[in-house]
Amino acid sequence: MNDDSYNFEAHWNNAYLKTPTENLGWYEENPMQSLELINECNLPNDALIFNAGAGATTLINRLLENGYTNIIVNDIAASALTDLKNSLTANKDAKVQFIVDDLTKPTELLNLKNIDLWHDRAVLHFFTEENQQKAYFNLINKAVKVDGFVILAQFNLEGAKKCCGLNVVNYNVEMFQNKLGNNFQLLKSFNYTYTQPSGNTREYVYSLFKRTA
Ligand SMILES: C[S@@+](CC[C@H](N)C(=O)[O-])C[C@H]1O[C@@H](n2cnc3c(N)ncnc32)[C@H](O)[C@@H]1O
Repeated sequence: MNDDSYNFEAHWNNAYLKTPTENLGWYEENPMQSLELINECNLPNDALIFNAGAGATTLINRLLENGYTNIIVNDIAASALTDLKNSLTANKDAKVQFIVDDLTKPTELLNLKNIDLWHDRAVLHFFTEENQQKAYFNLINKAVKVDGFVILAQFNLEGAKKCCGLNVVNYNVEMFQNKLGNNFQLLKSFNYTYTQPSGNTREYVYSLFKRTA
């Protein structure tokens, strides 16, 4: 189902078109765990922050409120980024760039460089095929600068096996490290139980890495 023949763009566009943002299974009113890890990075306000598969996340408003001014937001679904754009209330002067592109078959994303922070919550785990994962981690290696940071937050080994009708790969921190390779040093990792708008729970692993070479 998650192989390359499937139309992921249509799948995700449809998810955002048919459901109000606050009712999506992954909606977070306060993305506290992400913000905690981002704070650990001690980045200057003009650091280049990339949010992979951002959907309609509330994180971008929080980052703008916290003074960050240089943010690139990506998703495969244009409908998600339209919702996100419409939700932005904080700091209208900040630079927020929107890129509709597929992380597993990047075109415009291939131009990314000098990223200070790559943030991905609940996106990588949908890439069940080896070639999809390879493309994703190649992009990280190309785009994240030395001394930059990577935050990965995905369903953990005890977590759900599906989300939004798609299969997922369940992760632990060793699997992240293995995929990132020796140029990335683990700084922090924890498990977190997220409660969905429906009241159901989802088990995540959050990890923060720093690029050392
Ligand atoms: C479960 S949602 C998480 C959204 C957001 N990261 C959050 O935490 O609210 C997964 C997101 O990944 C996006 N996505 C899925 N496959 C993608 C791909 N190949 N390239 C870019 N984005 C993708 C979807 O459109 C969706 O917005």
